[in-house]
Amino acid sequence: MNYSTEELKEKIAKLKAKLSVTVVAHFYQRDEVFEMADIVGDSLELAKKTQDDDAEFVLFCGVGFMGQSVKVLSPQKRVVMPKIACCAMARMIDTLYFDESVAFLEKNGIAKESVLPITYINSNADVKAKVGEMGGMVCTSANAKMIITNALKEGKKILFVPDRCLGQNIANQMGLKSMVIGLGGDPKECDIICYDGFCSVHQLFSVEDIEFYRKKYPGILIAVHPECDPKICDRADFVGSTSQLIKFIEELPEDQKVAVGTEFNMVNRLRPKNTYILSSTKPECPTMNETTLEDVYLTLKSIEDGAPINEIFVDEKTQYWAKIALKRMMAL
Ligand code: 13P
Ligand code: SF4
Repeated sequence: MNYSTEELKEKIAKLKAKLSVTVVAHFYQRDEVFEMADIVGDSLELAKKTQDDDAEFVLFCGVGFMGQSVKVLSPQKRVVMPKIACCAMARMIDTLYFDESVAFLEKNGIAKESVLPITYINSNADVKAKVGEMGGMVCTSANAKMIITNALKEGKKILFVPDRCLGQNIANQMGLKSMVIGLGGDPKECDIICYDGFCSVHQLFSVEDIEFYRKKYPGILIAVHPECDPKICDRADFVGSTSQLIKFIEELPEDQKVAVGTEFNMVNRLRPKNTYILSSTKPECPTMNETTLEDVYLTLKSIEDGAPINEIFVDEKTQYWAKIALKRMMAL
């Protein structure tokens, strides 16, 4: 297909006007895709906002688990994705690895009944369902601390999947003891036992990057996402989810320099002056970047043709338990 960006934008706008479809995009999407969206936000905001939307189709520009969350919360909707790109971290855990993690705790003298699982929203629906079935819930990077504070009231050990960094960072913030399965430690001595998944994009920020910016621009602030390694978060001035980072940076005085440790597309759209990427590389999320403007057009076209492509389906049992895990979080 040989359409220019402007031609594609025009075609997309025409199809959007004609069809009952809402285009949603995560903050990490490419600029030209982001611009075409009716709703933008972080993963939870998108799942929530689409619940109140009455278009027949949701065209979700993001990664697979996010589209699934929309389908789980609003099963009556038809959810299509221009690319079913799978978040690298979500891909690190499946239901077998989850069961193995529970078995590891049992082998170490912690009964299943004494374990409360919490899964980061960056996990597939079948893992969320497992967690829901075991009495656990979902969290996001924006509410992880609150969810864990509440969960601890049950007096159980927390099994935190799949992001070891988020789990450890929250434990450090709250003065709790944590460990990562496979990296040593006695689970009986710990409050939070983390699975050993991680985000490859957020591992691209280093202590050297922080030292470089602090030396080059004395007074600069360092703001990072909690998917970064604990040694990065411990040295930062602000740690927050995508929405929290945006708010923090937009409220800074114009002349306050800030170096940000999260995905490139999002940081690049923030205030143009005095905002730096905390890395000598370009930390783009490869799976988020898979969705192109052409994919958006082709997906809309498939709806117009009556044969929608890349539709998301979640089986009934998975949908039931994954929704319970999501709703437990929302209730808090
Ligand atoms: P949010 O839940 O803040 O949208 O972040 C998702 C993500 O993938 C961050 O890397
Ligand atoms: Fe997944 Fe990391 Fe990409 Fe977020 S930035 S979608 S956690 S791979």
